Amino acid sequence: MIKQIGPWIDEAEIREVTEVVRSTWITEGKKTREFEKMMQDLTGSKHVISYVNGTLALYASLIAVGIKPGDEVLVPDLTFIASANSVIMAGAKPVFVDVDRKTFCIDAGKAEGKITTKTKAIMPVHLYSQAADMDDIMPFAKKHGLKVVEDAAESVGTRFRGRHTGTFGDAGMISFYGNKIITTAEGAVLLTDDPVLAEKLYRLKNHGRKEKGVFIHEEIGYNFSFTDVLAAIGVAQLKKFPRIAKRKNELRRLYEEQLRGVIEFTHVDERASLVHWFVNVLAGDAGADDLANFLKARGIQTRRFFYPLHMQPCYAGMKSGVRQHGSFENSEYAYNQGLSLPSSVTLKDNEVLQVCKAIKEYCKSGKGSC
Ligand SMILES: Cc1ncc(COP(=O)(O)O)c(C=O)c1O
Repeated sequence: MIKQIGPWIDEAEIREVTEVVRSTWITEGKKTREFEKMMQDLTGSKHVISYVNGTLALYASLIAVGIKPGDEVLVPDLTFIASANSVIMAGAKPVFVDVDRKTFCIDAGKAEGKITTKTKAIMPVHLYSQAADMDDIMPFAKKHGLKVVEDAAESVGTRFRGRHTGTFGDAGMISFYGNKIITTAEGAVLLTDDPVLAEKLYRLKNHGRKEKGVFIHEEIGYNFSFTDVLAAIGVAQLKKFPRIAKRKNELRRLYEEQLRGVIEFTHVDERASLVHWFVNVLAGDAGADDLANFLKARGIQTRRFFYPLHMQPCYAGMKSGVRQHGSFENSEYAYNQGLSLPSSVTLKDNEVLQVCKAIKEYCKSGKGSC
């Protein structure tokens, strides 16, 4: 079986983790600060705050920018469900907005029609490492007085007009879950240029206080701390990042070279420079499921796109009306057509060729998008 995705873990991670474990300081400390500094250098963000995972980091960001129960937050209809659930966790209502037909990221033009007096924030998601159109989103947010919390979970290394995703809004989150471009197993960082917000975000994850070991708590906070064991993995991953980014983009080039005119690839906005998390294709009229099953029968694992939020069964019947109707033609199109091909950094060229051969075979039968 050729796996859809997996991390690149080797002796470098083992060495870093061993050093931390041997030091006996395994909770959040020096190694975490080193990891945050490396993320600061990579993203150019003034403040980087590590978190236990991306979902709780999004939740904390929403609280920190002032989202309250009853507020509404604009969220793209096509995203991993954690984007919307972090809004629900904060007591607010996620309002789904259809995505752009090409980038599959939130369409600010369509968000106009979703504004109410309760709308307080927008959460652009840089989906599948594509950059959302920040040229449109930032003026839109300004016009309506909205806070911007970017979900850059999947887009480490991706820049829009040279600026790292997650650094445009009030706060941005990058996830390091096991299948992400770089990983710490579980974990995330928050990015912000605002020192006041940075301090709030730190307090929220540290029981409402500025320093550990002090037991007077100025605010209510929680424990969303990172650990030095995870930071050690992150430091090793970040040292490899240039090689990871290069290989990820080589995979996309190799697939494209082999499959040009055979199957359609997802669009890349010319204003953005990407580190491709997944290589994504649009399957054609027979749909993504058909292509996925064809490849599965040949030992090739793929991944369907996210299920549109307005169709999620878990939102059916919610009193707050999270289940929403309306036109979401682009997110439905993306779900029906989109398929992620095997994209592990460790994937060998001959494995890519094997996948391409199978896709060519599939398309020869008259199916496919070209
Ligand atoms: C778009 C998106 N948002 C949020 C998350 C949540 O991040 P985490 O798994 O670190 O909680 C993920 C990934 O897992 C994601 O892909």
